[in-house]
Amino acid sequence: MAGIDYTERIPNNVALHENRRLQRALEDWQPKFLDWWQDMGPTGFQAKEIYLRTAVSVDAKGWAQFDYVRMPEYRWGIFLAEPEAGRQVNFGDHKGQPAWQEVPGEYRGTLRRLIVTQGDTEPASVEQQCHLGRTCPSLYDLRNLFQVNVEEGRHLWAMVYLLDAHFGRDGREESEALLQRRSGDADKPRILGAFNEPTPDWLSFFMFCFFTDRDGKYQLASLAESGFDPLSQTCRFMLTEEAHHMFVGEAGIMRIVQRACELMREHQTDDLRPHGGIDLSLLQKYLNFHCSVSLDLFGSEISTNAANFYTAGLKGRFEETKKDDDHQLKEATYTVAGLEGERIVMREEAALVSLNERLRDDYVADCARGVARWNEVIRKHGIDVELTLPHRAFHRAIGLFSEVRVSPDGRVISQAEWDARHGDWLPNESDKAYIQGLMHPVTEPGKFANWIASPPRGINGQPIDFEYVRLG
Ligand SMILES: [Fe+2]
Ligand SMILES: [Fe+2]
Repeated sequence: MAGIDYTERIPNNVALHENRRLQRALEDWQPKFLDWWQDMGPTGFQAKEIYLRTAVSVDAKGWAQFDYVRMPEYRWGIFLAEPEAGRQVNFGDHKGQPAWQEVPGEYRGTLRRLIVTQGDTEPASVEQQCHLGRTCPSLYDLRNLFQVNVEEGRHLWAMVYLLDAHFGRDGREESEALLQRRSGDADKPRILGAFNEPTPDWLSFFMFCFFTDRDGKYQLASLAESGFDPLSQTCRFMLTEEAHHMFVGEAGIMRIVQRACELMREHQTDDLRPHGGIDLSLLQKYLNFHCSVSLDLFGSEISTNAANFYTAGLKGRFEETKKDDDHQLKEATYTVAGLEGERIVMREEAALVSLNERLRDDYVADCARGVARWNEVIRKHGIDVELTLPHRAFHRAIGLFSEVRVSPDGRVISQAEWDARHGDWLPNESDKAYIQGLMHPVTEPGKFANWIASPPRGINGQPIDFEYVRLG
């Protein structure tokens, strides 16, 4: 089961050849995907050889193989984690029933919506990042960008497999639509707000991988708990790929922080613009932006949809099966931040309708651990600055706090104060222009742009000056 069959046109570990109807549907979709990849994938690098990893099996040991691949020839396919014998629905009204191998009729529409919403984010991020290759800070980073991109492409395959295998004609129509929406397009935008924001520079890219891909981790982790077993198995394997994307983000920002500290020490100043660095206060603004738009992805604080997904057994909590309670939550409460006039207050709400907020709490705690690791770098340089996560009510477009203006430290403020100060808290036009001005390609093996430190080690045991992308 664990091995992946690469002799087939569509690599898979789901015995695709035994299901002719599904095989035909996916083989019909494959050229459309490749057309989309050519049009919307990394601009200018489709013919280059990239040192990429490919999954060879889904068990922990045999995960990856590294080799030079041209991206359009990457072996996208269908990989599910090993089935768990005797798995049950572990929460909600169906708790204790055998996990579903087929879509329960009553939840068909809801489940399709969940899968489409997740699936839509995958090609969206490839579209958002398609121009970044031109301004890579190094070949090492360029390769990491492309690794993330091909894996997001594979995540799209994962969701399309579920749609084609389990949702009939509707599923096939949704699979096509996933290739037709476009990030940032006014007429046919991607479904979620953060996936319509541009990723215009590498600082934004690393922030996106840290904050927005981490939303992906938490959504996938709660879908991995699903009573619909094929969704669970699909998401469990996707999570192993997602971990790498968050590494790219966290390590990328860490290297920018390190370089900032080196320049601050060398020049005895906080203002790194004359020295071509990204100072910590500017980094904080990008952090504030990407954190706040990613917090929106978790949805409203109080949500009957979230309650219904849970009660139906479709979407669980983060680490549902590790929690020690009744897994039905009918009587339970949960503490949620709310608004009382001009004040942000904590109050007890029914746990079921608070599940979005609970997942957001898990997410914020995870983000905070990463920020602490960046601060550790700053501290080791003897610099008295701390990066912080903005208050969850800051700069929100979705949920309760979208109705008020809030400072990064969590004070409800007037529109006038917001107008006067938001340029101190979020990247303003001159900040963006400065960052854009730093974006010049560095493509000599082992060389790095001045604003980012080199990584501590290369990829797959290769040296840092390895030719991760063959540009010749
Ligand atoms: Fe993904
Ligand atoms: Fe990702």
